[in-house]
Amino acid sequence: MDLKQHIRGIPDFPKPGILFYDISTLLRHADAWQVAMGRLANVVRAYHPTVLAGVESRGFLLAAPLALKLGCGFVMLRKPGKLPGATVGLDYALEYGTDRIEIQADAIEPGARVVVVDDLLATGGTMAAGIQLLQKVGGDVVAAASLIELTFLGGRDKLDVPFEALVQYDN
Ligand code: PRP
Ligand code: MG
Repeated sequence: MDLKQHIRGIPDFPKPGILFYDISTLLRHADAWQVAMGRLANVVRAYHPTVLAGVESRGFLLAAPLALKLGCGFVMLRKPGKLPGATVGLDYALEYGTDRIEIQADAIEPGARVVVVDDLLATGGTMAAGIQLLQKVGGDVVAAASLIELTFLGGRDKLDVPFEALVQYDN
């Protein structure tokens, strides 16, 4: 199955000049979702993770069911102010301005092997921040994975762990 057939490109969203790769059409198609999760499971399993960390919000849609499928725990990397209890955060630069992600301070147990999962890698800023934050709380980040990679933005060069993507767009 060609997963690209189930991913819709929507021009000028959220801003003029941006082509938004929409996974809603893939998720709502039972077979395509099943195939995508099966393929993601195969690539991620190879790293023998014990925990998957999902990036809010679209990363949760993939990371939580994938963790269940692989028999891993699931940890949330959230937007600021959403997690209860003690948290650790990381600010990171965007094209204009900055953003921040947070994790619960006790989310990662010693010895955990973590794979970070998001829906899409664009500039790589979000994924790089997720990896750095997990490392900051003592996580051994063994890989990162996404459904889609926008290769023309060179995001994977920002990552200091192996990166896997199911579908690549070069423009
Ligand atoms: C999108 C996407 C990735 C990130 C990729 O999330 O889901 O998380 O941007 O961009 P980057 O590689 O340039 O950092 P978005 O911030 O739009 O939020 P959402 O997942 O909550 O929809
Ligand atoms: Mg996102």
